[in-house]
Amino acid sequence: PTDATTDTTPAPEQTPTAWAVPAEPMRFPQGFVWGSATSAFQVEGSSTADGRGVSIWDTFAAQPGRIDDGSTADPTADQYRRWESDLDLMVDLGLQAYRFSISWPRIVPTGYLTGGGEVNQKGLDHYRRLVDGLLDRGMHPAITLYHWDLPQPLQDAGGWAVRDTADRFADYAAVVFESLRDVDATWLTINEPKTTAMVGYAGTEHAPALGDIDAGLAAVHHQLLAHGKAVQAFREIGGRGGIGIALNLMPVYGAAGAELAADRLDAAENRLYLDPVLRGTYPDEAVGDKPGQLRGDRAAFEALVQPGDLETISQPCDLLAVQYYGVAGIDKTGAWLQLYPPSSAGWQQVHAEGLYELLVRLPADYPDVPPLVISENGIPDPDAQGQIDDPQRLDFLRTHLQQAARAVAEGVDLQQYYAWSFVDNFEWARGMTQRWGIVHVDYDTQRRTPKSSARWYSQVVRTNAVPP
Ligand code: NOJ
Repeated sequence: PTDATTDTTPAPEQTPTAWAVPAEPMRFPQGFVWGSATSAFQVEGSSTADGRGVSIWDTFAAQPGRIDDGSTADPTADQYRRWESDLDLMVDLGLQAYRFSISWPRIVPTGYLTGGGEVNQKGLDHYRRLVDGLLDRGMHPAITLYHWDLPQPLQDAGGWAVRDTADRFADYAAVVFESLRDVDATWLTINEPKTTAMVGYAGTEHAPALGDIDAGLAAVHHQLLAHGKAVQAFREIGGRGGIGIALNLMPVYGAAGAELAADRLDAAENRLYLDPVLRGTYPDEAVGDKPGQLRGDRAAFEALVQPGDLETISQPCDLLAVQYYGVAGIDKTGAWLQLYPPSSAGWQQVHAEGLYELLVRLPADYPDVPPLVISENGIPDPDAQGQIDDPQRLDFLRTHLQQAARAVAEGVDLQQYYAWSFVDNFEWARGMTQRWGIVHVDYDTQRRTPKSSARWYSQVVRTNAVPP
């Protein structure tokens, strides 16, 4: 890796090279919430239990060649059946919160609440038990409503490329809000709209694998609209706790002479999501045919935006959830650069200071940004078989938490942190070949073993501080 700070943006004097880790543990504010995260499709298994419908990821994973090891997400970590012992393990580790997602096809198996579509009470009952299990153990639920498992019938009608899906999501969200109305939770509407839009609709690595950039841009707008409509439903129903969207964001560094390309890539990667949610506008630079831009039809994208949409998307939220995995680099031709060490994920450039830069940037660029939550942060084990002793993950968590603490010390209002992931699980197109858990899963026996990073994290939680 080269020294990216010499010829990149931001200017060298703004880069964190001068910062040294303090010798004493860095404390977090009182009341800071510590947890770990998963998502339904990745950990639950039991894909036909209790009336669950089919999602686009069931369809995709069943197609030959889509998933590296041919695995489906059943049984993966079998958490639909093992949730109680998993919650007990979280308590053993001292974790204070659990971020999980609700499977839309368990709640509304056909995706529609009209034309014969119904709410599946058994699905609601499952999540009620899970939430009560958390509350009984004194833990805080952080509940994601959409973590990529769209009901297949909605995809058959166009999925996120069509506007109707935003309304179907709002219907589903309202059902969940009613059902858990008494629960003081952290609610996350849509998980990583960028990944769904760019990898699933513009790309072909994720479901529904359309390979159509304009469908991808439509999926951006309709997911953001779905977020806004769900927030409206939450307010109307009088849901408790706080609500926001979970965005995967990354600082972008340009090589010498690539400042404009870097700015456009920042628009495509970050501002395309931040601006509509926090300002009610789309950035001009994200779409076009210049280096760094998304090569879609800008007029077609703009034509999707109906009067009132941006007001819906930008209505006030209680929090902004950030998922941080690393940074991006770009040269003036638009080629992406590897500036920092990769993880075995294949796409990560590991750079802890990037988290600090991102956290301080948000309130600087968006003065009205609500309190921040880090809803995901992590790396896979370098050994595909998984490790109980995982010094790389421990180091990753330590350095990133130090940078988070640094931002907090400078006044950034960060309130919660969730390590990705609680247990090893189904890593999308990588199947079971990448292990992201702080807890190891033996897939033959489903035995859980906390890795050394989990033991270390447990101490962080207990002391509310990150050691040097
Ligand atoms: C982000 C996604 O939300 C999550 O599902 C995934 O497993 C991690 N990144 C790691 O790739």
